Formats: sequence, C-alpha cells, structure tokens
Amino acid sequence: MSLLITGAKLADGTSTDLYVTDSGVLGDPSDAPGAAQRIDAAGLLALPGLVDMHTHLRQPGREDAETVDTGTAAAARGGFTCVHAMANLTPVTDTAEAAEYVQSLGERDGHCQVRVVGAVTKGLGGKDLAELGRMASSAANVRVFSDDGKCVDDSLVMRRALTYVKSFNGVVAQHSQDPRLAGPGACCHESEWSGRLGLPGWPSQAESVIVARDVQLAELTDSRIHVCHVSTAESVEVIRWAKKRGIKVTAEVTPHHLLLDTPLVAGYDTTFKVNPPLRTSEHLEAVREALADGTIDMIGTDHAPHARQDKDHPFDVALPGMLGLEQALAVVLEVMVNTGRLDWPTVAERMSYAPARLGQVGEQGRELVVGEPANLVLVDPSARATVDANQSRSRSRNNPYHGRELPDPVVTTIWRGKVTYQR
Ligand code: NCD
Ligand code: ZN
Repeated sequence: MSLLITGAKLADGTSTDLYVTDSGVLGDPSDAPGAAQRIDAAGLLALPGLVDMHTHLRQPGREDAETVDTGTAAAARGGFTCVHAMANLTPVTDTAEAAEYVQSLGERDGHCQVRVVGAVTKGLGGKDLAELGRMASSAANVRVFSDDGKCVDDSLVMRRALTYVKSFNGVVAQHSQDPRLAGPGACCHESEWSGRLGLPGWPSQAESVIVARDVQLAELTDSRIHVCHVSTAESVEVIRWAKKRGIKVTAEVTPHHLLLDTPLVAGYDTTFKVNPPLRTSEHLEAVREALADGTIDMIGTDHAPHARQDKDHPFDVALPGMLGLEQALAVVLEVMVNTGRLDWPTVAERMSYAPARLGQVGEQGRELVVGEPANLVLVDPSARATVDANQSRSRSRNNPYHGRELPDPVVTTIWRGKVTYQR
C-alpha cells in the first residue's frame, strides 16, 4: 500500500509532499496513484526516522521487563526507526551466534530496525576480549562494541579492544564509571544531596577520569571511542579538549540527563535511580551547552526497562535504569528547541544522522528525497500532554516522566514505508 503525505515541512522549513511507495522508498509525489492513502500533514514537520545509539531490549533473558516486540514498539512510539540493542543480555551478546540470534529477533519482531551491539569482553567480565572479529563478520554485521552497564576499566584491555576494532572500522562505546570511585552501591550524585539523603555517592569524577583515559587511548591507538551517557561538566571539558586535538571521539547524552536533576531522588523513588546518576543543575547546564555546540554529538536514550520486582527495593539496592524511548524527542523539544538552543536541522543531526553514521546504518539517517528509504517521523511541535506511564508501549513502567506535562510531538512513524506508529 502506498501513502501520500501532503503539506509537511522539512527540518529546514521548506514545504513538501512525500510519496511513500509500496516498495518502501520515497517516490516522486506526482507519480502517486489516486488510490494512495493520504495523510494531511499541514502544520507537521517531517524528520528522518530517529536512530537510538543506546537501547536495552532485555531479550533474551529478561522478557518480563521488555521484549524486542515491546521495546521496538516503544521506539516507534517515540519516532525511532532504528535502535542499537545493548549487549548486557542473558546470554551476553559476546559471540557471533549470540549476535545473530539478537539480529534474528529484530528481523522477526521489530517495529523498527534493530542493530546489534556486541560486548567488548566475554560475559562483560572486563578481562578477555569477546569475539569482536567474528561478530563483525557475522550476519549481524556488528560495528559497535560495548560492555555497557559495566565499565571496561582495565586500561590494557581497553587498548587492545580499540586496536582490534580498527581492522573493521568498529567503535568501542564505553560506560564510563571508575569502579573504585563509584562501586556497585553508588547511587546518588556525590554532593550535599548524597550526604543529606544518606545514599552512597557517585562522584562526577568517577566518570570523567575514565573519559580522560579513554580519549588518550583512542589517540594512542588511532581508533574510535564513543562515550555513552555523558552526565558531567568535567567529561564535557575532556571531550571538548580531545576533539580540539583531533581525537576520534563521539559522545551521547540521555534525555534524562538533560532534564532531570539530583533533587528528584529525595523521595527515594527508585524510578529515579539510574547509572550514571541524575546530576545537579550546573552539570545539566554543561551537557545542554555541549549538545548545542556539538561537543556531544547525539542523543542516546539509554532506555532501561526494569520489572517492578527489581525496582521495589530500598534505593541503594534497586536496579538502576529508566525508560527513555517514548519521551526522548519530547524532552529534546522542551529543553533544547523551545528554549532556542537547537534548531530542527540540528535535532535531525543529533537524533538521526549522527547516530546512523556512528552505527554505520546505511539505510538510516538519510535525506527525505526521492529514491531514499521511507524512514521518517511526522512531528507536531506544539502538541503537549501529561505523560502516563500506564499508556506506555514498553513492558515496564519505570518512566521518570510519569505525571509530567511535556511536548507530545510524535504523530506518525514510518519505517521502510510502513506506518509503525500513528497517534
Ligand atoms: C542500564 C541497564 O539497566 O541495563 N542501567 C542504567 O542505569 N543506565 C545499564 C547502563 O546503561 O549502564
Ligand atoms: Zn551504561
């Protein structure tokens, strides 16, 4: 079935009609058959489908928290047409077979494209390298490697991983957390707040010392490092320095680190427990500025669904992580666009083009022109709504925006020419 979308505006403000052919590519609107279904998009913006660098889909292993079906449905609800599935699954994605299995789940159940992230080390153990080369040459065609959830803290292991992935133009995505400065119990930004609330502190330097080491290892090996969920002013300074030096570093920030701050944990609501922790306003300001000036290249949602039984614990015991896919664009709109810090072409860069380039996903992050794949999202920049966690397409309910009034921009998501979400 073909679709004719009329009167949409592109990110640069030009008006256009878009003809989505039944083969899933964009065609010339004047060729659209009369029988094509029509979508009146007057007042709406058409952006390239969003790409997430950092998604936890939980399948295989924790299908009670999320599945490829529910997680990618949440992604489509958020305007995404591609997600990168993190490797901290059970079993860990550390072999070619495991990578191909996740890939096949994506092909079978996905409401968007699923790109597989491979582990850096076996079992996320931090010691022996995983099958990086075999994952890269497998049918999953893995290019991004990460022990996310755990930091690759051994400098020599990191050096070897960076050296190895170069041979197939891969990238190592690091969860930067010095395990000696911020151990497993650390759960609150180390500050007046952690002291007052009696929660183990997670200092901002536990992140930035690892970022500083990794960019230097990237320089030493002439390889590529990606910094996951940057949350601190110090990390931003280090990345700025490294980019000025010509080091091949990219970075992402999560929606929650742009909007939510440390005082939210004062009620000990474990929905707000996340790694790295919510930071204070001066850090939020620094990551916003960095996203605006390009020091931080992209949004990564770190969508981290957890079942109720893993969140219903004392704050220091509950599992860290919060949902992010469905409200990512809403948060970017609220914090960055409505405040004049980002224009729409730059939103498209940070949420589609940049992550597609990093993940080397050829069919994503493309201009909306004739001949390109029909991966797009129609956006209403002025709609607003109160977030209801119970309306989520995710299987989990740890939505930190529940009850908050936010933009509600996603109207329609189209992936490979098919409508995957319609408000
Ligand atoms: C993530 C998870 O639950 O898998 N949790 C989190 O707090 N962010 C792991 C991670 O991204 O570090
Ligand atoms: Zn992480």
